[in-house]
Amino acid sequence: MANILVVGSISTDLVVNADRKPEIGETIEGKEFQTFFGGKGANQAVACARLGAQTAMAGAVGEDEFGIRLLENLTYNQVSIDQVVRIKEHASGTALITVVEGDNSIIYVAGANRQFTPEKLFQTEEQLERLKASDIVLVQNETPVKTIEKLILTCQEYHVPVLYNPAPARLISEEWIEKVAFLTPNETEFKVLFPDKTMEEMLFKYPSKLIITLGEDGAVFCNGEKIISIPAFPVERIVDTTGAGDTFNGAFAVAYAEGKTIEESVRYANKAASLSIQRSEAQNGMSTLENLKAFFK
Ligand code: RIB
Repeated sequence: MANILVVGSISTDLVVNADRKPEIGETIEGKEFQTFFGGKGANQAVACARLGAQTAMAGAVGEDEFGIRLLENLTYNQVSIDQVVRIKEHASGTALITVVEGDNSIIYVAGANRQFTPEKLFQTEEQLERLKASDIVLVQNETPVKTIEKLILTCQEYHVPVLYNPAPARLISEEWIEKVAFLTPNETEFKVLFPDKTMEEMLFKYPSKLIITLGEDGAVFCNGEKIISIPAFPVERIVDTTGAGDTFNGAFAVAYAEGKTIEESVRYANKAASLSIQRSEAQNGMSTLENLKAFFK
C-alpha cells in the first residue's frame, strides 16, 4: 500500500453556478449556491486515500465550525489528521468559486492555511518518522512559501520524493525546481512559471520531472528523448472541472508510489481526472479504486 503525506490547504468551497460571469460593476443572478469541502491540499489527500493509499495530511484550520467539519470530512475519507493544527485567531480557509458551463474560476482566501508556518510542520519525532516512511510527499501553493521550502529541504535530506503542484501559480526559482521529483503545472501555471519559454524547451530541460496538464488535451512530459503526450479520456458531458487537477495529482502520486512508470502513472491520473469532471464539486467526483476499475473495465 502506498504511503503518502500531503502538505497543503484545507478549505471550504462556496460555489455559485451561473450562466456567465458578471462584468465589472454588474450584478447577475446565479442559478445555485452550495458549500463543499475543498482546499487543494485536502482534495489531493482525499484523492490519494480514495485510491487506496495510506494518507496523512499536514495543514491548518481555524477553531471555527468550518474547521470542525473540514477535519470530520478528512477523517471520514480515512485521511489521518494528526498533523493538522487548529489556529485560534484565524478563520478556516475559504474559496469562492464560480462555475460557468463546467469551468471554474476561484478566489482563494487563505485564512488559517497561511498560519501553517515552518515550525508547525514537524512538531514531533513521530511526525518526522512519518515523513521518512512516505513513498512520496505532495505540496501545492496554498501553503506559505517558507513552509514549502522547509518541507522540500527535509524531504531532500531523507530522500523522499516531492511532487510539487504549483497551483495557484507563482514564480519558483530553478534552485527549488531542481530539488523536487515532479512539478505539475497546468497550462496557465506553466506560463507564470516560465514566461517567454516554450513548453517543448522546458519539457526537455526537466525530463521526467515536469508534467504539464492540458485539460481536455491530457498531459505531456519528456522522457529524455522525446515528448510523450498522453491524451485525456473523452467524456460525454463536463459537469465541473473543480478539483480535476487535484484528482490528477493525487492519482499520479498513488500510481507512482505503487511502482508504476511515469507514463503509466500519467495515464492512470488522466483516467481519474476524467471521471472527476463528470460530477459536481472538487471531492464529490473523486473516484474510489473500485469505481475507477469498474468504469474502465
Ligand atoms: O483545486 C481546486 C481547489 O482550489 C478548490 O477546492 C478550492 O478550495 C481552491 O482553492
